[in-house]
Amino acid sequence: MELFNFCRELPKVELHAHLNGSLSKSTMLQLKRLNADSGVKDETNTFMDEFVMGAGDTRNLADCFQIFSIAHALTITPQALQIATILTLQEFQDDGCCYIELRSTPRDTPYMNKRQYIDAILEGIRNHDASNIISRLIISINRNMLQKESDEIADLAIEYFQKHPELVVGVELSGNPTVGDFQSFVPALTRARDAGLKIALHCGEICNPGEILEMINFKPDRLGHGICIHPKSGGTEETWQALCRSLIPVELCLTSNVNTKSVPGYDLHHFKEFYEAGIPIIINTDDKGVFATSLSQEYMLCAETFQLDKTQLARLAVGACQHVFDVKSRDTVKSKVLEFVNKHGLCL
Ligand code: IMP
Ligand code: ZN
Repeated sequence: MELFNFCRELPKVELHAHLNGSLSKSTMLQLKRLNADSGVKDETNTFMDEFVMGAGDTRNLADCFQIFSIAHALTITPQALQIATILTLQEFQDDGCCYIELRSTPRDTPYMNKRQYIDAILEGIRNHDASNIISRLIISINRNMLQKESDEIADLAIEYFQKHPELVVGVELSGNPTVGDFQSFVPALTRARDAGLKIALHCGEICNPGEILEMINFKPDRLGHGICIHPKSGGTEETWQALCRSLIPVELCLTSNVNTKSVPGYDLHHFKEFYEAGIPIIINTDDKGVFATSLSQEYMLCAETFQLDKTQLARLAVGACQHVFDVKSRDTVKSKVLEFVNKHGLCL
């Protein structure tokens, strides 16, 4: 089987996908029509084409955070948010994703409050035809939030985890890495963790060794990106040794890092150092709409850039199953990948 088809058909696990960054052009157009039909004010006309960022784009990581307001203007009502969830899950499923943890930041809009925001996504997950994909929700805290708001999100996450433990699995910290101080989110994250939620932290998107060490010492269940950890990509010997000792699984997002110029090119991506050192890694999309990618494309890019064969790709897919936050789904997801592996005569 051709590598492209192999990457598409391989059952894959997506653990780092922001809902509003994952909207495809076709989803955005459907949301625009829906909002127009329901008389919702549309401010996105001039901005739609600015949503997608490529490697040749002059925008960088900081500019990337402006882009999300375009998607936010479209997912402003519960109905639009629910449809955005359903369409996005369908696209991941069509791309061979068998388990996804979608993450999103609850917001108050003129049409809904944070509670209704979470309800709308959960309705989307329930109403999506889940025949080939298991979908879960991670609730995001944004680094630009004041302590009061991050506490509010943690309380909501705990409440929804207690009401719907089969759907809400974790809390994560994301947003512009140049804004906010990790320590101010520790009380909210600790409460969420003590209540049983899993924790993921965006870590090392910019060089900040002090914060990276604080994050590793916090012992989250997963780290996102982990760019400035290895000395070759802006980290220090201390940050690298701390990660190697901790063996915290890292969610890698190659295209996102290249397109935001956080790493200078695919061949210089820290995937190589992490892979060779045996750090548990998971391949993800981050924002497939913004970065015009897909999960199978990320597997394909990894294979082409680092000369991985089908067996090595399959090992990555199997390995990812160990790190899904919904512990009860781990065996189900792993069996699905192994069934494919056996069917294709691969020996792991
Ligand atoms: P939402 O949480 O569904 O609204 O998805 C968009 C949000 O995800 C953005 O506003 C950011 O807070 C966060 N996000 C998306 N991509 C990144 C990233 O690369 N680094 C940090 N935060 C991100
Ligand atoms: Zn992210």
